[in-house]
Amino acid sequence: MARTVLTEPSRAIAEFRLLPGLTRPEAVADRVSLATRLAVLPCGGAVRLNIPLVAAAMQAVSGVAMGIELARHGGVAFLYASQPVAAQAEMVRRIKNHKAGFVQPQTVPPDLPIARVADLAAAKGFSTFPVVDAQGRLLGLLTRLDYAPARHAALPARDRMIPRDRLVVGREPLTLRQANDLLMDSHQSVLPIVDGDDRLRDLVFRKDIQNHLEHPDEVVDARKRLLAAAAINTHDYRERLPALAEAGVDVVAIDSSDGHSCFQAETLAFARQACPDLPVIGGNIVTADGFRFLAEAGAAGVKIGMGGGSICITQEQKGTGRGLGTAILEVAAARDEWHRRTGAYLPLIADGGIVTAKDMVIALALGADAVMLGRYFARFEESPTEKVMINNRVMKPYWGEGSPRAREWRGARYGQATFAEGVEGYVEYAGPLRDNVAETLAILRSSMSSAGARDLAELHREAVVEVVSALSIREGQAHDIQVAGPPTGFGAKAWGV
Ligand code: IMP
Repeated sequence: MARTVLTEPSRAIAEFRLLPGLTRPEAVADRVSLATRLAVLPCGGAVRLNIPLVAAAMQAVSGVAMGIELARHGGVAFLYASQPVAAQAEMVRRIKNHKAGFVQPQTVPPDLPIARVADLAAAKGFSTFPVVDAQGRLLGLLTRLDYAPARHAALPARDRMIPRDRLVVGREPLTLRQANDLLMDSHQSVLPIVDGDDRLRDLVFRKDIQNHLEHPDEVVDARKRLLAAAAINTHDYRERLPALAEAGVDVVAIDSSDGHSCFQAETLAFARQACPDLPVIGGNIVTADGFRFLAEAGAAGVKIGMGGGSICITQEQKGTGRGLGTAILEVAAARDEWHRRTGAYLPLIADGGIVTAKDMVIALALGADAVMLGRYFARFEESPTEKVMINNRVMKPYWGEGSPRAREWRGARYGQATFAEGVEGYVEYAGPLRDNVAETLAILRSSMSSAGARDLAELHREAVVEVVSALSIREGQAHDIQVAGPPTGFGAKAWGV
């Protein structure tokens, strides 16, 4: 007989509802904070997000465009590990070099011919190049207006650059706001920033500042570069993890359908020794034992969920898995106990099968600090797939990392398995991330306000969550009327159309 047989069924997220609490003036929806911790940092502190949404480490979900757009809205996308190490590290670099404020410049030496500068511009896709000497000291600046490739081809960069003494330059340390003030008073579109020895450190572009002001939730590192997250696996981590760290990744998650495994402990031990400053999230687990195992192994956060993903057939194939609601409840209780005992608060990420804003708020109320979403983000413009028309509907392909399509890449999450754990299909195209996330966050804030919670810590402390019956779920939907077609205009999406 099995060691233990639990006869209480495990619960899906959809079986819970949040009871209303007292809504206070300080907790009205637009005052609700969605800021959260994603992982603890080895040196203390935490990787913080401004919204509790992260995109799943999947080929059909998280590429560079998703990584940039989600970080600009306050979350992060975990770049998928089912690709060669160098390709994934390059994705990290592209997110880190995105012009989110301070940009690490591509410099040129003063004697480089303009023809070569033009080649570089064509290859890199931008045209501004600071000119520096062999010690990295700023000599001048070449912008798009300073050279014409055909006319100036043979001239060296120094002959076309705006020389240093005619440039307005910022000196470290400098905030983005101070850089902005300097730029506004200059006649330049770009501000070079130098250190105390006049060595060039960053560039700040005028157009990026406006952009930045339009994205108040943007999550950035100490150098104001967007946060980048990536997945690793338990096979090639010795090569992958250092390459990602070198590229500047801020947080890493071990991508596995079963994280209660000695291989994860080995991966975490390697990470501590090879990349001691990099937070590594473990998972996925669905039990208190799994949580304690990863906490003891040094995980910076823990991902919960097994068998619930929209493309997942793990439960059907292997008979392993657990309802996500029950999994979060049990793991959150273990996390809180770990917190009391050790003083360390390990963030929890609920992953797999979360479809709507109401699922997200329930997962958060049950104890998660963030939710990881695949299908949700796969529908957006920024996912790496191409739109297709099927039966007059605009769709995007979406497939599991354990589907035959993703497993073609040998090192993937399920690369070693000889059978499929995921399927391939389509999701309806939903437009840009910006609009969809704005609506989801509005619903999240409204739910939290109804529950009387000003922030996620209060939601964890104060939420009252109840299991509901199937009839009660039916009662909570539109029923017993002839629904008059999809609503249009304001609120249409909130009704699920
Ligand atoms: P979704 O948000 O319901 O689409 O679920 C996404 C999650 O499913 C991912 O974050 C993974 O944890 C999980 N997942 C991804 N690919 C597979 C697969 O092929 N089989 C099982 N689970 C998967």
